[in-house]
Amino acid sequence: MGRSLLEKWIKPSLLSDMDSVQLLKNVDGKASFVQADDDDMTQTTKSKIRFSTHDNLLWAHSSFPTTESDCIFFGPDTFRYFYFLEKTVKMYHEKGGKVIDIGAGSGAGGIFLANLLKDQGDVQVTLTDINPTALLYSRANATANFPTKDGPKFNFVLSDILKNVDGPFDLIVSNPPYMVDTEESKSAADKDGAARMYRNGGGTLGIELSVRIVREGAEKLNRGGLIALYTGIPILAGNVDPFFSEVKPLIEEGGLELVRYEEIDPDVWGEELSTKAYGDVERISVIGLVLRKK
Ligand SMILES: C[S@@+](CC[C@H](N)C(=O)[O-])C[C@H]1O[C@@H](n2cnc3c(N)ncnc32)[C@H](O)[C@@H]1O
Repeated sequence: MGRSLLEKWIKPSLLSDMDSVQLLKNVDGKASFVQADDDDMTQTTKSKIRFSTHDNLLWAHSSFPTTESDCIFFGPDTFRYFYFLEKTVKMYHEKGGKVIDIGAGSGAGGIFLANLLKDQGDVQVTLTDINPTALLYSRANATANFPTKDGPKFNFVLSDILKNVDGPFDLIVSNPPYMVDTEESKSAADKDGAARMYRNGGGTLGIELSVRIVREGAEKLNRGGLIALYTGIPILAGNVDPFFSEVKPLIEEGGLELVRYEEIDPDVWGEELSTKAYGDVERISVIGLVLRKK
């Protein structure tokens, strides 16, 4: 594949910093293109990989439609996650240290943080995901954005939440899946009926992984360290928040203090509310939760 084709997706200014053909090879080491039918039924070649940029950073991720179970997500939530991370770091954590991004996907959050904290001394960023393909993307994107050895240090770990990492950490961040992704809820089902790893939050209301991040994160935080969780929660009739009801006792049990609980967007994914899985849900709200280890 020639560089001219790539330039349609990548800003030419970014190409000077990296060998983008190598970047694509690093991502999955195999064919990155598929034959697709256009609306007028002509066959065209489409990329399975898309690139997104923010500030001076760039990420390869899956292209639309993201229906396969191991797709690499990068979407509106990712940009809201950047907003939340930047605000959290500015308000509570202007220092380096050991950082972990749980459910890293393309590596978006961890790489964004590495860039924000790169002048704050030693920064070690661990990118974890349960999806092995996500670690290929995270590694390729980290290398593309920080090609030299004197930049932030990254490591990449296949892990269910924090099971395969030791800690302790100074900053634990995550934008985990938070939707119910069953046949009863899907607006665009995976062709094999499998739940999509980037979307399925687990439990009846999609909050299980978010609750686990608080419970398991508390055990792997340094004193003074933060959990910064960006997630979506179902709000039931009467403004009942089942996520915070589950998290409240964990704050005390985990030796944590509540620093901030912010509603970032009160109403997302409205189209899902008409599905059976969301029968009792009035709206899905996106929140940012910050907790500190005492
Ligand atoms: C909504 S995507 C977010 C990706 C990325 N952090 C972002 O902001 O663009 C959620 C990610 O969590 C991963 N994930 C799902 N279940 C997980 C688990 N049990 N442990 C770790 N990662 C998980 C998915 O594979 C996916 O990459």
